[in-house]
Amino acid sequence: MKYFIGNWKMFGVPRSIKILNKINSFRAKDKNRNKYRVIITPPYTLLEYFAKQFKNKRITIGSQNCYQKDKFSSNTAAISPYMIRSVGAKYTLVGHSDNRAEGDTDLMLKNKVKFALKNNLKVVFCIGENKKQKKNNQTFGVLKKQLVKVLEKKLNKNNIIVAYEPIWSIGTGKIPKQKDLLKTTIYIKKVLKNIFKKKSPPVLYGGSVDGDNIDTFRQIKEINGFLIGGASKSSKKFIDIIKNYYR
Ligand code: 13P
Repeated sequence: MKYFIGNWKMFGVPRSIKILNKINSFRAKDKNRNKYRVIITPPYTLLEYFAKQFKNKRITIGSQNCYQKDKFSSNTAAISPYMIRSVGAKYTLVGHSDNRAEGDTDLMLKNKVKFALKNNLKVVFCIGENKKQKKNNQTFGVLKKQLVKVLEKKLNKNNIIVAYEPIWSIGTGKIPKQKDLLKTTIYIKKVLKNIFKKKSPPVLYGGSVDGDNIDTFRQIKEINGFLIGGASKSSKKFIDIIKNYYR
């Protein structure tokens, strides 16, 4: 199973639902549709509306983040995993580099993962090195640390997906060399197998994925799907990625 996840970040108002309607219609007719899942993570403001509209349809709705507590608490503006699940969202991203940059620590991420899973959300756990770390050949060490500090054997790995998003690639148009990405993906899966003592959860790639460069990625069979930012805000661009992946 492959995953095409569209992360809208700070984009979208109610009428943006037309983008999802087009993606949904495309998937309904696509002969490859059973080979992949489509998940869109709009901002919190649209979660309930979109989740209701696409219930039992061909797009699953997820959240971009969640608060590190279970249900209700006195934290102004915080949204808990329980609240997210209660409006029909089924996934949540955790640990996106945008949120790490704003102060998410490993301990906070550990709690987010724990409470998201407890509330029956599937977790897309994001990791990735920055430009300086890549330059200093620290990529593997950084990724390993991000994984082992948060994920542990007792968690339900069937509800976890890992997304590798090199920070230097996000929104820049720069993508890793194919052979580097293959090596990194294999390394991440090795670390995950060690943590979960057997099979690795799916590992996705994210960072400047579009309909043109998807060809580079589709050749790497170890990659189980994609976390797509900019190109997920246009139905055409998002659909082109899927079309070209299965060409
Ligand atoms: P871009 O596809 O815009 O580079 O964003 C990737 C990303 O951060 C998805 O979470």
